[in-house]
Amino acid sequence: MSHPNILVTDSDGIVSIEISRRDKKNAITGDMYRAMSDALGHAREQRHVRVVLIRGQSDLFTAGNDLGDFLHRKANDPSAAIPFLHLLSAFEKPLVAAVAGNAVGIGTTLLLHCDLVYAAENALFQLPFVKLALCPEAGSSLLLPRVAGHQRAAELLLLGEPFDAATACSAGFVNRVVAADQLMDTAMAAARKLAALPAQSLAVTKALLKRPPDRSALEAMDEEAIYFADLVAEPAAKEIFSAFLEKRSPDPTKIHGNNT
Ligand code: COA
Repeated sequence: MSHPNILVTDSDGIVSIEISRRDKKNAITGDMYRAMSDALGHAREQRHVRVVLIRGQSDLFTAGNDLGDFLHRKANDPSAAIPFLHLLSAFEKPLVAAVAGNAVGIGTTLLLHCDLVYAAENALFQLPFVKLALCPEAGSSLLLPRVAGHQRAAELLLLGEPFDAATACSAGFVNRVVAADQLMDTAMAAARKLAALPAQSLAVTKALLKRPPDRSALEAMDEEAIYFADLVAEPAAKEIFSAFLEKRSPDPTKIHGNNT
């Protein structure tokens, strides 16, 4: 799972995936996508992992796909970015991202698949696909207008100019903008909070949030009710209810089983 430019740690229920190829502005090569896919696969399979944090450093996220790789790519060459993006998009556990400095191309579009995104004041996003004579990827032509509306998405995807963290926040895909020296602590604090919550409830809530948006409120309500009926009878919920009524803290072993 290890790669010199993809630093993976696994502790306290949090897998951290750090993009680290600073001499090339963290540009991502095929091997780096594969290493990130391996890390996501590990995080998906291991029950003790509850959250994944994707990060660069406090002054740099990524300059996007390695342009040298693009230069040598032919039309039908398989792209290692695609399996990575599929894993990311279908990932059942919460994904937190910490973004600082340049976040170009996939450095911005991968955020559309994350659940909580924190950006440093120095973050600079860019979707330069048209400028590069390419077109949007990672589902961004669907996901960006969904959060930002057509005109804002069109401005960011057609003109492809860099935009700051405040713009990303108002476009709807960044939760909060913080000082650069607070970024990693902020993202890690959110990851820790998520890791302490009942994993099954998180997974069900995330799955419900990602259901197609065109269903009716009644359909959503009925689907929620099915999951709700199961969860309310689970030991985790029973322990939380009992703890409240008995004025004590819940026993984490009864909420997380052996994976505390
Ligand atoms: N792929 C490959 N190498 C890249 C790269 C990329 N996406 N982005 C930066 N690099 C390399 C540069 O070639 C340079 O390498 P060198 O020192 O061997 O010459 C090094 O990283 C530093 O880049 P530089 O452009 O000097 O840094 P900067 O701070 O002036 O600018 C960026 C940073 C991110 C604004 C600029 O590098 C850039 O625009 N990169 C391309 C982004 C891009 O188009 N990505 C593809 C999206 S689909």
